[in-house]
Amino acid sequence: MQKLYVAMVGLPASGKSTLARRIRDDLTGEGIRTAIFNNGEMRRRVAGPDSTNAEFYAPDNEEGRDLREQIALKNMEEARRWLEGVGQVAVLDATNASRQRRKLIEDTLTDYPVLFVECLNEDPVLQEACIRRKANLPEYATYAVDDAVTSFKARIKYYESIYTHVGEEKYWMQVDSMANRIMSESPLEGSQFYPAIRELLANSWVKNLYLIRHGQTDFNVEGRIGGDPLLSEKGRSQADALARHMEGKVVDWIFTSTRRRSHETASYLLKNRPLTQVMAIPEFDEINAGLCEGMRYAEVREKMPEVTRGRNADKFNYCYPGGESYAMLLQRVQRGLRRALFLSGGASTVIVGHQAINRILLSMFLRQRTEDIPYMFVPQDHYYHIEATPRRKLVERIPYSQGRR
Ligand code: F6P
Repeated sequence: MQKLYVAMVGLPASGKSTLARRIRDDLTGEGIRTAIFNNGEMRRRVAGPDSTNAEFYAPDNEEGRDLREQIALKNMEEARRWLEGVGQVAVLDATNASRQRRKLIEDTLTDYPVLFVECLNEDPVLQEACIRRKANLPEYATYAVDDAVTSFKARIKYYESIYTHVGEEKYWMQVDSMANRIMSESPLEGSQFYPAIRELLANSWVKNLYLIRHGQTDFNVEGRIGGDPLLSEKGRSQADALARHMEGKVVDWIFTSTRRRSHETASYLLKNRPLTQVMAIPEFDEINAGLCEGMRYAEVREKMPEVTRGRNADKFNYCYPGGESYAMLLQRVQRGLRRALFLSGGASTVIVGHQAINRILLSMFLRQRTEDIPYMFVPQDHYYHIEATPRRKLVERIPYSQGRR
């Protein structure tokens, strides 16, 4: 029977554990018995709070180095036992940062092939967000948040000083963990697992994504473009109906734009959800209409007919004077979605966006022709529920004004 070790590689906050969980969950869904062996968890059990201190990771700290190697060996032993028994895939979740450590893995685990999966995350915004998240883990409970961040950054520096990319190992792939892209690889040919793992890493992976458009504003009623209005009375009752409709649904993350109508809509959803994490992502701000911001469509038609003509001729590529086009929006919304999905790591996620933003987001899952994107229907009393995993693709539009579903 074919069996496989997958050894994650990457600096702290590069997305390794998220991808390790994705590999386990997806392969398990395919009926492949997969388990994760996490060095960090074992380290916390064995070494306790001493191992939170950044100095534990200093390459010249012999005691720390030996202990970490013992933990790595113990985890390899557990992974080997899992494959000796019923297990089919064992995922070693650790930084495995140096060539030396990876050689130790290849030399120790010789019964089945080892595939190294290196995670790269070079997005500074995500790195900072991941570091902040780590600083809130129980491991740092006795630290003030800023001290925890400083300590974690020092730990990363130590790892960076010994880090080398994969390349000399026999089987490996290098993954941009934010963009879900395989950057380069040395494939394990003939393996039934390799194509499955490659596919799940090379695709966006969304278990439950809810795309919501903010509730109605007076600007919407007046046909005004952009701005930063609050919700109208009808908008508030839409947001309330939405929150009631979503009662009982798990929502782990809510991403908003930086606009008040998006925050206000989210605030209804957040009632009675103390554990839900919220983050404003500027990439989800509505299309910038430049000189036309705050104007009525009718006014634009009258005072700036060239804008209306330009949009009618090619709405996707037309760029508002001093503002943006849908084509430009595509870039930033894509970046925002990648950041959101990376941070939520497959958990249940809501994005409270705007008309143009939701068109772009939806088009990413529906593979719409670009010329049709700026005309997609995004009503304010419906939301979209999206699932996109290798095994399941679903985009459904659900009305919420009628109460709970
Ligand atoms: O009208 C509401 C709105 O969100 C505006 O703020 C935005 O400019 C517009 O929708 C985007 O839609 P369209 O590109 O069709 O004008």
